[in-house]
Amino acid sequence: MSIKNLHQDVIEQVLITSDNLQKRIAELAKDISKDYNGKELVLICILKGGLYFLTDLSKKITIPHTFDVVGATSYGKSVRSTGHVVITKDVSTDIRGKHIIIIEDIYDTGLTLKVVMDLLRVHNPASVEVCALIEKKKIHKEEIMIKYVGFEIEDEFVVGYGLDYDEKFRHFDFIGILKKEVYL
Ligand code: PRP
Repeated sequence: MSIKNLHQDVIEQVLITSDNLQKRIAELAKDISKDYNGKELVLICILKGGLYFLTDLSKKITIPHTFDVVGATSYGKSVRSTGHVVITKDVSTDIRGKHIIIIEDIYDTGLTLKVVMDLLRVHNPASVEVCALIEKKKIHKEEIMIKYVGFEIEDEFVVGYGLDYDEKFRHFDFIGILKKEVYL
């Protein structure tokens, strides 16, 4: 099956094209490069969904920075958060006194971000902010101050560009609404 046929079979609607993703990520990278100029910046990506966003954003940031990853998971084979976030990996570098931006693909209930922020604060960084590619327009279970937001979307289940359903569809270069028959 070609990737085009796969899209047609599982995607209800493309919400954000690859071009629009890359343009917005370039704007976010420009803002971050300006705001963190002269600071010791570490991007910390939440696995696994944030990986595609991390690599594109990092390549567009024009100031020196490093990155690390933390593991957190809450969805399993479901389109809803289980409400129970499991940390599967802590940072592996010393982030004490450094300026952290958490790189998250989607801010949905906010439970993942809350748990990861609490974890990172234990390491005594100088600051912790969040850059979320997608924010769902909804009342979040945990309201988090997000410094950088790529796009706001309605409360739909979306896949692509790192976002999965049952580990599938992360590799799409766009973000789209998953057809309900795929998971019902
Ligand atoms: C997803 C997504 C975010 C988180 C957002 O991760 O990648 O990290 O959920 O949801 P929340 O705001 O409701 O907590 P998931 O647990 O599916 O793990 P994954 O990134 O490995 O797919």
